[in-house]
Amino acid sequence: MRTVGILTSGGDCAGLNAVIASIVRAGTPLGYRFIGFHRGWEGLLSPMSYTELTPENVRGISHLGGTVLKTTNKGRFGAKLTAGGLRRIPQEVLDEAKRNLESVGCEGLIVIGGDGSLSGAMQLSELGVNIVGVPKTIDNDLQHTDRTFGFSTAVQVVVDSLDRIHSTATSHDRVMFVETMGRHAGWIALRAGLAGGAHAILLPEFPFSPSDLVAYLRKRHEKTKSTVIVIAEGAAIDDQYVGQARANGGELLLGGVSTRLVQEIEALAPEEFEMRVTVLGHIQRGGTPNAPDRMLSKAYGVAAIQAYHHGHFGNMVRYNCNKMDIVPIAEACGGLKLVTEETLEYVTARELGIFIHGEHDKHDVPEELH
Ligand code: F6P
Repeated sequence: MRTVGILTSGGDCAGLNAVIASIVRAGTPLGYRFIGFHRGWEGLLSPMSYTELTPENVRGISHLGGTVLKTTNKGRFGAKLTAGGLRRIPQEVLDEAKRNLESVGCEGLIVIGGDGSLSGAMQLSELGVNIVGVPKTIDNDLQHTDRTFGFSTAVQVVVDSLDRIHSTATSHDRVMFVETMGRHAGWIALRAGLAGGAHAILLPEFPFSPSDLVAYLRKRHEKTKSTVIVIAEGAAIDDQYVGQARANGGELLLGGVSTRLVQEIEALAPEEFEMRVTVLGHIQRGGTPNAPDRMLSKAYGVAAIQAYHHGHFGNMVRYNCNKMDIVPIAEACGGLKLVTEETLEYVTARELGIFIHGEHDKHDVPEELH
């Protein structure tokens, strides 16, 4: 029997349990035994914390949110700086992880995580550890993969919320801001804003100024006074991110840009618009995965153990053009996948006259999209 470790690292995400269960269920008949490390990399470092994963004890977990292995986005293996910046993990920490893995008979490791966690995996793989990565993040900002699991569920949560927010916007003639997660990528905001009938979508990738938005609102208010605006937490106002420093250093904890924007608009146009803010926060991340994410997670789990079985170490499995294949982890961690002017959702939104940044004038204000 060959023993392989599994760990989930970084923020939790809908679909993690389905990936774990699929690896175990597809890997056991191939002759593997699995050990799940608790709380991400922390369970692999001393004092170690782990549990055996069997087809029996992973039964019935695929539809559950979170991760049965627990996770953390901080700790001794923290490899994340900010906006795609990654750091070297101290050599003694990497050596300890390698030693500990061997001490429990593991010949390798499957790491389910985002760019920070996978950067840690890459550094361990450089020491000769057999590693396969699985891309995980609701932000969908990992390069070289079309879609990460958890993203679809997050988008669905935002769309469901927008359906409710529209009612209040219309009934009260208000400007309603909905702030989404996504860090420095606008994928959640853009896709959900488009699907949920937002009138303006503000993204980290496309700078805008509060005065442009005021001009847009004034023009729009000639026709209707209710407006729904989706804003990504990583959108910058005058090149400034809004958030707070984390106690452990690392990347900025983003949040609050919608409140800041409302203050700026109020200063430019006092009492002209009645505005309210909803920050969706972690409800986008937790809870049960939707059907597309369950499917994708199961496919990722099967692809991960197959990649491992075929000796594709140092690689990440990826969903690419409706197929699973592999890409070197080093390439996947080389930067963030961001929205561009060629992105289908961006092109669609612009052609529908949705405000994204300050060059809206070429379009008429859209009729109600909802
Ligand atoms: O990367 C996933 C994510 O949910 C981001 O969208 C968000 O900025 C961040 O994690 C929040 O982190 P925490 O769980 O530490 O608040």
